[in-house]
Amino acid sequence: MNTKTRQLCVGMSLATTWLSGNAWRRNDSRVEDIFNIDYYIELANKAEQAKMDFVFCPDSLYLDPTVLAHSAGFSGLDPTLLLTAIAHSTHSIGLLTTASTTFYEPYIVARQLQSLHYISKGRAGWNVVTGLEGHENFGLPNMPDTDTRYARADEFTAAVQQLWHSFPSEALKQDREQGQYADPSLIQPANYHGKHLSTKGPLSLPSHPAGDIPFFQAGASDKGKAFAAKIAAGSFAATPDKNSAKTLRSELRERATAMGRNPNDIRILPGLNLYLAPTHEQAQALYQATRTDKMRERQRAFISTSLGLNLTNVSDDDLISASMMGEMGSVRSKSHSLLVRRLVHRETMTLKALLNRSEVSASGHWQIVGTVDDALRCIIEWAEAGAIDGFIALPGGSEECFNLVCQQLMPALANQGWFRREYTGATFLSHLQEGNSQN
Ligand SMILES: Cc1cc2nc3c(=O)[nH]c(=O)nc-3n(C[C@H](O)[C@H](O)[C@H](O)COP(=O)(O)O)c2cc1C
Repeated sequence: MNTKTRQLCVGMSLATTWLSGNAWRRNDSRVEDIFNIDYYIELANKAEQAKMDFVFCPDSLYLDPTVLAHSAGFSGLDPTLLLTAIAHSTHSIGLLTTASTTFYEPYIVARQLQSLHYISKGRAGWNVVTGLEGHENFGLPNMPDTDTRYARADEFTAAVQQLWHSFPSEALKQDREQGQYADPSLIQPANYHGKHLSTKGPLSLPSHPAGDIPFFQAGASDKGKAFAAKIAAGSFAATPDKNSAKTLRSELRERATAMGRNPNDIRILPGLNLYLAPTHEQAQALYQATRTDKMRERQRAFISTSLGLNLTNVSDDDLISASMMGEMGSVRSKSHSLLVRRLVHRETMTLKALLNRSEVSASGHWQIVGTVDDALRCIIEWAEAGAIDGFIALPGGSEECFNLVCQQLMPALANQGWFRREYTGATFLSHLQEGNSQN
Protein backbone atom coordinates (compact mmCIF):
# COMPACT_ATOMS: atom_id res chain seq x y z
CA MET A 1 0.00 0.00 0.00
CA ASN A 2 1.40 3.32 -1.02
CA THR A 3 -0.39 6.18 0.70
CA LYS A 4 2.38 8.78 0.53
CA THR A 5 2.52 9.15 -3.20
CA ARG A 6 0.58 11.80 -4.99
CA GLN A 7 -2.91 10.82 -6.06
CA LEU A 8 -3.23 10.21 -9.78
CA CYS A 9 -5.22 12.55 -11.99
CA VAL A 10 -7.40 10.45 -14.29
CA GLY A 11 -9.65 11.40 -17.17
CA MET A 12 -11.95 9.26 -19.29
CA SER A 13 -12.04 9.92 -23.00
CA LEU A 14 -15.50 9.92 -24.52
CA ALA A 15 -14.03 9.55 -28.02
CA THR A 16 -15.42 6.24 -29.18
CA THR A 17 -12.13 4.33 -29.11
CA TRP A 18 -14.02 1.11 -28.38
CA LEU A 19 -15.45 1.29 -31.92
CA SER A 20 -12.11 1.50 -33.72
CA GLY A 21 -10.94 -0.95 -36.38
CA ASN A 22 -13.44 -3.75 -36.73
CA ALA A 23 -14.63 -3.52 -33.12
CA TRP A 24 -17.72 -1.52 -34.13
CA ARG A 25 -18.93 -4.64 -35.92
CA ARG A 26 -19.24 -6.60 -32.68
CA ASN A 27 -22.85 -7.23 -31.65
CA ASP A 28 -22.30 -5.43 -28.35
CA SER A 29 -20.58 -2.34 -29.78
CA ARG A 30 -23.60 0.03 -29.53
CA VAL A 31 -22.34 1.76 -32.67
CA GLU A 32 -25.90 2.92 -33.36
CA ASP A 33 -25.60 5.19 -30.31
CA ILE A 34 -22.64 7.15 -31.64
CA PHE A 35 -24.76 10.31 -32.04
CA ASN A 36 -27.08 9.59 -29.10
CA ILE A 37 -26.60 11.97 -26.16
CA ASP A 38 -28.26 9.54 -23.71
CA TYR A 39 -25.42 7.09 -24.35
CA TYR A 40 -22.73 9.65 -23.54
CA ILE A 41 -24.57 10.69 -20.40
CA GLU A 42 -24.62 7.03 -19.36
CA LEU A 43 -20.85 6.78 -19.94
CA ALA A 44 -20.13 10.05 -18.11
CA ASN A 45 -22.21 8.83 -15.17
CA LYS A 46 -20.06 5.69 -14.99
CA ALA A 47 -16.89 7.80 -15.03
CA GLU A 48 -18.34 9.99 -12.27
CA GLN A 49 -19.26 6.94 -10.18
CA ALA A 50 -15.59 5.94 -10.53
CA LYS A 51 -14.71 9.43 -9.13
CA MET A 52 -12.59 10.29 -12.15
CA ASP A 53 -11.24 13.82 -12.38
CA PHE A 54 -12.80 14.52 -15.75
CA VAL A 55 -14.40 13.26 -18.91
CA PHE A 56 -12.64 14.40 -22.04
CA CYS A 57 -13.71 15.06 -25.62
CA PRO A 58 -11.00 15.49 -28.24
CA ASP A 59 -12.00 17.07 -31.56
CA SER A 60 -11.29 17.19 -35.23
CA LEU A 61 -12.62 19.67 -37.73
CA TYR A 62 -12.42 17.61 -40.91
CA LEU A 63 -13.67 14.30 -42.21
CA ASP A 64 -12.10 11.92 -44.71
CA PRO A 65 -15.10 10.33 -46.48
CA THR A 66 -13.01 7.38 -47.73
CA VAL A 67 -12.49 6.28 -44.11
CA LEU A 68 -16.26 6.19 -43.58
CA ALA A 69 -16.59 3.16 -45.84
CA HIS A 70 -15.19 1.02 -43.02
CA SER A 71 -15.19 3.02 -39.77
CA ALA A 72 -16.61 6.04 -37.98
CA GLY A 73 -13.32 7.90 -38.46
CA PHE A 74 -13.42 11.32 -36.87
CA SER A 75 -17.18 11.78 -37.17
CA GLY A 76 -18.81 12.84 -33.92
CA LEU A 77 -20.75 15.45 -32.00
CA ASP A 78 -19.31 18.89 -31.25
CA PRO A 79 -17.35 18.37 -28.00
CA THR A 80 -18.45 21.53 -26.20
CA LEU A 81 -22.13 20.97 -26.99
CA LEU A 82 -21.81 17.33 -25.95
CA LEU A 83 -20.22 18.26 -22.62
CA THR A 84 -22.82 20.96 -22.06
CA ALA A 85 -25.54 18.32 -22.29
CA ILE A 86 -23.55 16.04 -19.96
CA ALA A 87 -23.08 18.91 -17.48
CA HIS A 88 -26.75 18.86 -16.62
CA SER A 89 -26.78 15.15 -15.79
CA THR A 90 -23.60 15.00 -13.70
CA HIS A 91 -22.59 16.76 -10.49
CA SER A 92 -18.88 16.65 -9.76
CA ILE A 93 -16.82 15.37 -12.65
CA GLY A 94 -14.68 17.84 -14.66
CA LEU A 95 -15.64 18.45 -18.31
CA LEU A 96 -12.62 18.84 -20.57
CA THR A 97 -13.50 20.08 -24.03
CA THR A 98 -11.21 20.71 -26.99
CA ALA A 99 -11.09 23.93 -28.99
CA SER A 100 -8.65 24.87 -31.74
CA THR A 101 -6.72 28.12 -31.54
CA THR A 102 -5.84 27.87 -35.24
CA PHE A 103 -9.38 27.88 -36.57
CA TYR A 104 -11.55 29.60 -33.96
CA GLU A 105 -11.83 33.16 -32.66
CA PRO A 106 -11.04 33.99 -29.02
CA TYR A 107 -14.28 35.82 -28.23
CA ILE A 108 -16.42 32.82 -29.21
CA VAL A 109 -14.20 30.34 -27.33
CA ALA A 110 -14.07 32.58 -24.23
CA ARG A 111 -17.86 32.88 -24.19
CA GLN A 112 -18.60 29.21 -24.89
CA LEU A 113 -16.19 27.95 -22.24
CA GLN A 114 -17.33 30.44 -19.62
CA SER A 115 -20.92 29.40 -20.43
CA LEU A 116 -19.97 25.74 -19.94
CA HIS A 117 -18.31 26.76 -16.67
CA TYR A 118 -21.58 28.34 -15.49
CA ILE A 119 -23.82 25.55 -16.78
CA SER A 120 -21.63 22.95 -15.02
CA LYS A 121 -21.15 25.06 -11.88
CA GLY A 122 -17.37 25.39 -12.23
CA ARG A 123 -16.41 22.17 -13.99
CA ALA A 124 -15.17 23.34 -17.43
CA GLY A 125 -11.65 22.69 -18.73
CA TRP A 126 -10.09 23.57 -22.09
CA ASN A 127 -7.81 21.27 -24.07
CA VAL A 128 -6.00 23.86 -26.20
CA VAL A 129 -5.05 22.41 -29.58
CA THR A 130 -3.49 23.96 -32.65
CA GLY A 131 -5.22 21.44 -34.93
CA LEU A 132 -4.14 18.74 -37.34
CA GLU A 133 -6.10 19.28 -40.54
CA GLY A 134 -9.15 21.12 -41.78
CA HIS A 135 -7.80 24.52 -42.84
CA GLU A 136 -10.00 24.41 -45.99
CA ASN A 137 -13.05 24.51 -43.71
CA PHE A 138 -11.94 27.88 -42.37
CA GLY A 139 -10.92 29.67 -45.55
CA LEU A 140 -7.18 29.11 -45.06
CA PRO A 141 -5.12 28.29 -48.18
CA ASN A 142 -2.68 26.05 -46.21
CA MET A 143 -2.30 24.56 -42.78
CA PRO A 144 -0.17 27.18 -40.96
CA ASP A 145 3.26 25.84 -39.90
CA THR A 146 4.01 24.85 -36.30
CA ASP A 147 5.65 28.15 -35.34
CA THR A 148 2.75 30.23 -36.65
CA ARG A 149 0.20 27.93 -35.00
CA TYR A 150 1.86 28.16 -31.59
CA ALA A 151 2.42 31.93 -31.91
CA ARG A 152 -1.30 32.32 -32.52
CA ALA A 153 -2.10 29.87 -29.70
CA ASP A 154 -0.03 32.00 -27.35
CA GLU A 155 -1.92 35.16 -28.29
CA PHE A 156 -5.22 33.31 -28.35
CA THR A 157 -4.97 32.02 -24.77
CA ALA A 158 -3.78 35.43 -23.53
CA ALA A 159 -6.75 37.10 -25.23
CA VAL A 160 -9.20 34.54 -23.82
CA GLN A 161 -7.82 35.05 -20.31
CA GLN A 162 -8.15 38.81 -20.66
CA LEU A 163 -11.75 38.39 -21.85
CA TRP A 164 -12.52 36.13 -18.87
CA HIS A 165 -11.06 38.69 -16.49
CA SER A 166 -12.71 41.67 -18.24
CA PHE A 167 -15.97 41.15 -16.35
CA PRO A 168 -15.03 39.83 -12.89
CA SER A 169 -17.78 38.14 -10.88
CA GLU A 170 -17.30 40.75 -8.11
CA ALA A 171 -18.62 43.39 -10.53
CA LEU A 172 -22.02 41.76 -10.42
CA LYS A 173 -23.93 43.47 -7.59
CA GLN A 174 -27.62 42.77 -8.29
CA ASP A 175 -28.52 45.10 -5.43
CA ARG A 176 -32.29 45.48 -5.64
CA GLU A 177 -32.47 48.15 -2.94
CA GLN A 178 -29.90 50.48 -4.49
CA GLY A 179 -30.97 49.58 -8.02
CA GLN A 180 -27.37 48.69 -8.89
CA TYR A 181 -27.07 45.72 -11.24
CA ALA A 182 -23.30 45.79 -11.65
CA ASP A 183 -20.35 48.06 -10.88
CA PRO A 184 -19.08 49.25 -14.29
CA SER A 185 -15.85 50.58 -12.70
CA LEU A 186 -14.79 46.94 -12.16
CA ILE A 187 -15.47 45.97 -15.76
CA GLN A 188 -12.48 46.58 -18.03
CA PRO A 189 -12.32 45.87 -21.76
CA ALA A 190 -9.78 43.23 -22.76
CA ASN A 191 -8.33 45.44 -25.52
CA TYR A 192 -6.08 42.70 -26.79
CA HIS A 193 -4.06 43.54 -29.89
CA GLY A 194 -1.51 40.99 -31.11
CA LYS A 195 0.13 40.10 -34.38
CA HIS A 196 -2.37 37.34 -35.16
CA LEU A 197 -5.61 38.53 -33.59
CA SER A 198 -7.32 41.24 -31.65
CA THR A 199 -10.43 41.55 -29.53
CA LYS A 200 -11.97 44.29 -27.43
CA GLY A 201 -14.35 42.87 -24.84
CA PRO A 202 -15.59 42.98 -22.20
CA LEU A 203 -17.10 39.50 -22.38
CA SER A 204 -20.88 39.25 -22.26
CA LEU A 205 -20.88 37.18 -19.08
CA PRO A 206 -18.95 37.45 -15.84
CA SER A 207 -16.13 35.18 -14.68
CA HIS A 208 -17.28 32.27 -12.53
CA PRO A 209 -16.83 32.56 -8.75
CA ALA A 210 -15.29 29.02 -8.77
CA GLY A 211 -12.20 30.50 -10.44
CA ASP A 212 -10.41 30.14 -13.74
CA ILE A 213 -10.95 27.39 -16.26
CA PRO A 214 -7.88 25.07 -16.34
CA PHE A 215 -5.93 24.76 -19.59
CA PHE A 216 -4.82 21.42 -20.93
CA GLN A 217 -2.67 21.01 -24.00
CA ALA A 218 -1.64 18.41 -26.60
CA GLY A 219 1.48 18.65 -28.79
CA ALA A 220 5.08 17.91 -27.74
CA SER A 221 7.30 19.59 -30.34
CA ASP A 222 9.72 22.10 -28.86
CA LYS A 223 7.19 24.90 -29.35
CA GLY A 224 4.43 22.68 -27.99
CA LYS A 225 6.41 21.99 -24.82
CA ALA A 226 7.21 25.68 -24.31
CA PHE A 227 3.51 26.47 -24.65
CA ALA A 228 2.50 23.70 -22.22
CA ALA A 229 5.09 24.78 -19.66
CA LYS A 230 3.63 28.28 -19.71
CA ILE A 231 -0.09 27.59 -19.42
CA ALA A 232 -1.05 23.94 -18.98
CA ALA A 233 -2.45 22.29 -15.86
CA GLY A 234 -2.29 19.05 -17.83
CA SER A 235 -0.61 17.78 -20.96
CA PHE A 236 -2.36 15.07 -23.00
CA ALA A 237 0.74 13.18 -24.05
CA ALA A 238 1.55 10.57 -26.66
CA THR A 239 4.13 8.45 -24.83
CA PRO A 240 4.25 4.82 -25.98
CA ASP A 241 6.89 3.73 -23.46
CA LYS A 242 7.83 4.54 -19.88
CA ASN A 243 11.09 6.26 -20.76
CA SER A 244 9.51 8.65 -23.23
CA ALA A 245 6.92 9.58 -20.59
CA LYS A 246 9.61 10.03 -17.96
CA THR A 247 11.69 12.24 -20.23
CA LEU A 248 8.71 14.35 -21.25
CA ARG A 249 7.55 14.70 -17.66
CA SER A 250 10.90 15.82 -16.31
CA GLU A 251 11.38 18.23 -19.21
CA LEU A 252 7.96 19.82 -18.78
CA ARG A 253 8.48 20.11 -15.03
CA GLU A 254 11.86 21.76 -15.57
CA ARG A 255 10.47 24.16 -18.14
CA ALA A 256 7.53 25.04 -15.89
CA THR A 257 9.91 25.69 -12.97
CA ALA A 258 12.04 27.94 -15.19
CA MET A 259 8.89 29.95 -15.90
CA GLY A 260 8.28 30.48 -12.18
CA ARG A 261 5.58 27.85 -11.85
CA ASN A 262 5.29 25.05 -9.29
CA PRO A 263 6.21 21.91 -11.30
CA ASN A 264 3.35 20.04 -9.64
CA ASP A 265 0.95 22.41 -11.38
CA ILE A 266 1.62 20.72 -14.72
CA ARG A 267 0.47 17.11 -14.98
CA ILE A 268 1.63 14.66 -17.61
CA LEU A 269 -1.31 12.54 -18.63
CA PRO A 270 -0.53 10.08 -21.40
CA GLY A 271 -3.34 8.67 -23.48
CA LEU A 272 -3.70 5.06 -22.30
CA ASN A 273 -5.24 2.53 -24.67
CA LEU A 274 -6.76 -0.16 -22.48
CA TYR A 275 -7.87 -3.49 -23.92
CA LEU A 276 -9.10 -5.17 -20.77
CA ALA A 277 -10.95 -8.44 -20.37
CA PRO A 278 -11.28 -11.14 -17.70
CA THR A 279 -8.57 -13.31 -19.35
CA HIS A 280 -5.44 -12.62 -21.41
CA GLU A 281 -6.87 -14.52 -24.38
CA GLN A 282 -10.06 -12.45 -24.35
CA ALA A 283 -8.04 -9.24 -24.08
CA GLN A 284 -5.88 -10.24 -27.07
CA ALA A 285 -9.03 -11.02 -29.08
CA LEU A 286 -10.42 -7.62 -28.15
CA TYR A 287 -7.22 -5.93 -29.25
CA GLN A 288 -7.21 -7.84 -32.55
CA ALA A 289 -10.80 -6.75 -33.18
CA THR A 290 -9.64 -3.15 -33.22
CA ARG A 291 -7.09 -3.86 -35.97
CA THR A 292 -7.93 -3.77 -39.65
CA ASP A 293 -5.93 -3.76 -42.86
CA LYS A 294 -7.99 -0.80 -44.01
CA MET A 295 -5.75 1.46 -41.91
CA ARG A 296 -2.58 0.25 -43.61
CA GLU A 297 -2.46 2.75 -46.46
CA ARG A 298 -2.73 5.76 -44.17
CA GLN A 299 -0.17 4.27 -41.80
CA ARG A 300 2.33 3.66 -44.61
CA ALA A 301 1.88 7.26 -45.76
CA PHE A 302 2.45 8.44 -42.19
CA ILE A 303 5.69 6.41 -41.89
CA SER A 304 6.87 7.65 -45.27
CA THR A 305 6.42 11.36 -44.42
CA SER A 306 7.71 11.02 -40.87
CA LEU A 307 10.87 9.14 -41.88
CA GLY A 308 11.40 10.99 -45.16
CA LEU A 309 11.49 7.57 -46.84
CA ASN A 310 9.85 6.47 -50.07
CA LEU A 311 8.09 3.16 -49.33
CA THR A 312 6.90 2.42 -52.88
CA ASN A 313 9.25 -0.54 -53.34
CA VAL A 314 9.49 -1.55 -49.69
CA SER A 315 7.69 -4.76 -48.74
CA ASP A 316 6.35 -5.74 -45.33
CA ASP A 317 9.33 -8.04 -44.63
CA ASP A 318 12.00 -5.47 -45.52
CA LEU A 319 14.00 -4.01 -42.66
CA ILE A 320 13.67 -0.32 -41.80
CA SER A 321 16.74 1.21 -40.16
CA ALA A 322 17.88 4.66 -39.07
CA SER A 323 20.37 4.94 -41.94
CA MET A 324 17.44 4.90 -44.42
CA MET A 325 15.81 7.98 -42.90
CA GLY A 326 15.73 11.30 -44.72
CA GLU A 327 14.39 14.70 -43.70
CA MET A 328 10.98 14.71 -42.02
CA GLY A 329 8.34 15.79 -44.56
CA SER A 330 5.58 18.30 -43.95
CA VAL A 331 3.74 16.59 -41.10
CA ARG A 332 0.46 17.21 -39.28
CA SER A 333 2.00 16.72 -35.85
CA LYS A 334 5.71 16.80 -35.08
CA SER A 335 5.02 15.04 -31.77
CA HIS A 336 3.69 11.95 -33.53
CA SER A 337 6.33 11.94 -36.29
CA LEU A 338 9.21 12.39 -33.84
CA LEU A 339 8.00 9.33 -31.90
CA VAL A 340 8.37 7.15 -35.02
CA ARG A 341 11.79 8.62 -35.82
CA ARG A 342 12.99 7.97 -32.27
CA LEU A 343 11.71 4.40 -32.44
CA VAL A 344 13.59 3.69 -35.69
CA HIS A 345 16.72 5.26 -34.20
CA ARG A 346 16.46 2.84 -31.28
CA GLU A 347 15.47 -0.33 -33.13
CA THR A 348 15.78 -1.79 -36.62
CA MET A 349 12.70 -3.82 -37.55
CA THR A 350 10.63 -4.98 -40.49
CA LEU A 351 8.04 -2.65 -41.97
CA LYS A 352 5.37 -5.09 -40.78
CA ALA A 353 6.62 -4.87 -37.20
CA LEU A 354 6.81 -1.07 -37.44
CA LEU A 355 3.22 -0.90 -38.67
CA ASN A 356 2.14 -2.75 -35.52
CA ARG A 357 3.93 -0.52 -33.06
CA SER A 358 1.89 1.94 -31.03
CA GLU A 359 3.88 4.84 -32.54
CA VAL A 360 2.19 4.02 -35.85
CA SER A 361 -0.96 2.06 -35.04
CA ALA A 362 -2.20 3.87 -31.93
CA SER A 363 -1.28 7.57 -32.31
CA GLY A 364 1.77 6.89 -30.12
CA HIS A 365 -0.32 6.11 -27.08
CA TRP A 366 0.61 3.84 -24.20
CA GLN A 367 -1.10 0.50 -24.59
CA ILE A 368 -2.10 -2.24 -22.14
CA VAL A 369 -3.67 -5.47 -23.38
CA GLY A 370 -4.58 -7.80 -20.52
CA THR A 371 -6.53 -8.12 -17.30
CA VAL A 372 -7.41 -5.43 -14.76
CA ASP A 373 -4.52 -6.68 -12.60
CA ASP A 374 -2.07 -6.27 -15.48
CA ALA A 375 -3.25 -2.68 -15.96
CA LEU A 376 -3.04 -1.96 -12.25
CA ARG A 377 0.55 -3.23 -12.02
CA CYS A 378 1.67 -1.36 -15.11
CA ILE A 379 0.09 1.97 -14.08
CA ILE A 380 1.62 1.78 -10.60
CA GLU A 381 5.01 0.92 -12.12
CA TRP A 382 4.92 4.01 -14.36
CA ALA A 383 3.73 6.21 -11.49
CA GLU A 384 6.44 4.95 -9.13
CA ALA A 385 9.03 5.55 -11.84
CA GLY A 386 7.99 9.23 -12.01
CA ALA A 387 6.77 8.83 -15.59
CA ILE A 388 3.19 10.04 -15.12
CA ASP A 389 0.90 12.18 -13.00
CA GLY A 390 -2.12 10.24 -14.21
CA PHE A 391 -3.56 9.25 -17.56
CA ILE A 392 -6.42 9.71 -19.97
CA ALA A 393 -8.16 6.36 -20.38
CA LEU A 394 -8.90 5.34 -23.96
CA PRO A 395 -10.82 2.06 -23.58
CA GLY A 396 -10.73 -0.11 -26.68
CA GLY A 397 -12.63 -2.95 -28.24
CA SER A 398 -15.84 -3.15 -26.23
CA GLU A 399 -18.14 -1.41 -23.82
CA GLU A 400 -17.23 -4.10 -21.30
CA CYS A 401 -13.70 -2.76 -21.38
CA PHE A 402 -15.04 0.74 -20.58
CA ASN A 403 -16.95 -0.79 -17.66
CA LEU A 404 -13.90 -2.67 -16.37
CA VAL A 405 -11.93 0.57 -16.28
CA CYS A 406 -14.63 2.36 -14.29
CA GLN A 407 -15.87 -0.46 -12.09
CA GLN A 408 -12.69 -2.45 -11.38
CA LEU A 409 -9.52 -0.62 -12.35
CA MET A 410 -10.33 2.70 -10.67
CA PRO A 411 -11.51 1.10 -7.38
CA ALA A 412 -8.36 -1.07 -7.41
CA LEU A 413 -6.19 2.03 -7.80
CA ALA A 414 -8.13 3.64 -4.92
CA ASN A 415 -7.61 0.54 -2.75
CA GLN A 416 -3.86 0.86 -3.26
CA GLY A 417 -3.91 4.53 -2.28
CA TRP A 418 -3.34 5.90 -5.79
CA PHE A 419 -6.78 7.35 -6.35
CA ARG A 420 -9.62 9.05 -4.47
CA ARG A 421 -12.52 7.09 -3.04
CA GLU A 422 -14.80 10.13 -2.93
CA TYR A 423 -14.79 13.62 -4.40
CA THR A 424 -13.84 16.26 -1.86
CA GLY A 425 -14.99 19.13 -4.07
CA ALA A 426 -17.32 19.72 -6.98
CA THR A 427 -15.22 21.85 -9.36
CA PHE A 428 -12.55 20.79 -11.84
CA LEU A 429 -9.94 22.96 -10.10
CA SER A 430 -10.73 21.40 -6.73
CA HIS A 431 -10.04 17.91 -8.11
CA LEU A 432 -6.71 19.07 -9.54
CA GLN A 433 -5.71 20.86 -6.33
CA GLU A 434 -6.67 17.87 -4.21
CA GLY A 435 -3.91 15.87 -5.97
CA ASN A 436 -1.38 18.63 -5.28
CA SER A 437 -2.24 19.03 -1.62
CA GLN A 438 -1.00 15.48 -1.01
CA ASN A 439 2.63 16.23 -1.84
C1 LIG B 1 -1.76 13.38 -27.94
C2 LIG B 1 -2.25 14.44 -28.88
C3 LIG B 1 -3.61 14.70 -28.99
C4 LIG B 1 -4.09 15.68 -29.86
N1 LIG B 1 -5.44 15.90 -29.94
C5 LIG B 1 -5.92 16.82 -30.82
C6 LIG B 1 -7.32 17.04 -30.96
O1 LIG B 1 -8.16 16.43 -30.30
N2 LIG B 1 -7.73 17.95 -31.88
C7 LIG B 1 -6.86 18.67 -32.64
O2 LIG B 1 -7.30 19.49 -33.44
N3 LIG B 1 -5.53 18.50 -32.50
C8 LIG B 1 -5.03 17.59 -31.64
N4 LIG B 1 -3.68 17.41 -31.51
C9 LIG B 1 -2.77 18.24 -32.32
C10 LIG B 1 -2.00 19.25 -31.51
O3 LIG B 1 -2.82 20.19 -30.88
C11 LIG B 1 -0.98 19.98 -32.36
O4 LIG B 1 -1.65 20.84 -33.27
C12 LIG B 1 -0.13 19.08 -33.21
O5 LIG B 1 0.30 17.96 -32.45
C13 LIG B 1 1.09 19.86 -33.69
O6 LIG B 1 1.87 20.27 -32.64
P1 LIG B 1 3.25 19.54 -32.33
O7 LIG B 1 4.09 19.80 -33.54
O8 LIG B 1 3.73 20.19 -31.06
O9 LIG B 1 2.94 18.09 -32.17
C14 LIG B 1 -3.18 16.43 -30.65
C15 LIG B 1 -1.80 16.17 -30.53
C16 LIG B 1 -1.33 15.21 -29.66
C17 LIG B 1 0.15 14.97 -29.53
